[in-house]
Amino acid sequence: MQTFPILITERLTLRKLSKNDSDEILQLRSDIEINKFLDRKPSKTLEDALNFINSLIENESDEFFYWAITKTDEDNLIGTVCLFDFLKDSRKCEIGYELLTQYQGQGIMIEAVNKVLEYAIKTHGIKTIDAQTHKDNQSSIKLLQKLNFKKFDNAIENNPNLILFRFTT
Ligand SMILES: CC(C)(COP(=O)(O)OP(=O)(O)OC[C@H]1O[C@@H](n2cnc3c(N)ncnc32)[C@H](O)[C@@H]1OP(=O)(O)O)[C@@H](O)C(=O)NCCC(=O)NCCS
Repeated sequence: MQTFPILITERLTLRKLSKNDSDEILQLRSDIEINKFLDRKPSKTLEDALNFINSLIENESDEFFYWAITKTDEDNLIGTVCLFDFLKDSRKCEIGYELLTQYQGQGIMIEAVNKVLEYAIKTHGIKTIDAQTHKDNQSSIKLLQKLNFKKFDNAIENNPNLILFRFTT
């Protein structure tokens, strides 16, 4: 894998995830509000969080990017954003994101995702970015709409609770 891409925005630095992020990863993956619409195995202990971090570090590749969002000059993780499921032939990938509750409502995720979209398009020649979100996840839907993702009704067959949003260049 090439050097991990550190991304800088006006207020944020998006860096590689590290083993030192386990407290914040535990917070993100155990908080009831944050996980309300996410279908995943929650972390219950610091060990769970560390195992999760290790699994990501071990699976590092040029087709999977998991950024720790930090405020520039403060190294602590405040959220994450990731690009995954790259389909090289169709120049497509998927995006996921989450923010600790105390950092929501400040435009932090829109700033982070904007930069990640720019990175995917300019560096990897991606033309389509998908996001799947729960139909009741208003904050996520609002974010995707602000970023010009378009809603595709009935696109996800096996889970009627999920909506597909798609960004195309
Ligand atoms: C989805 C999620 C990341 C959205 O976070 P967010 O902070 O609402 O997202 P944004 O960065 O777009 O911030 C928008 C809010 O910041 C406000 N804001 C404040 N300063 C701002 C600025 N400088 N620029 C833009 N917006 C700003 C906006 O008015 C908006 O508030 P509103 O929702 O009350 O209208 C967050 O709700 C989350 O982590 N949820 C749990 C995990 C999850 O569901 N992830 C999605 C899985 S598909």
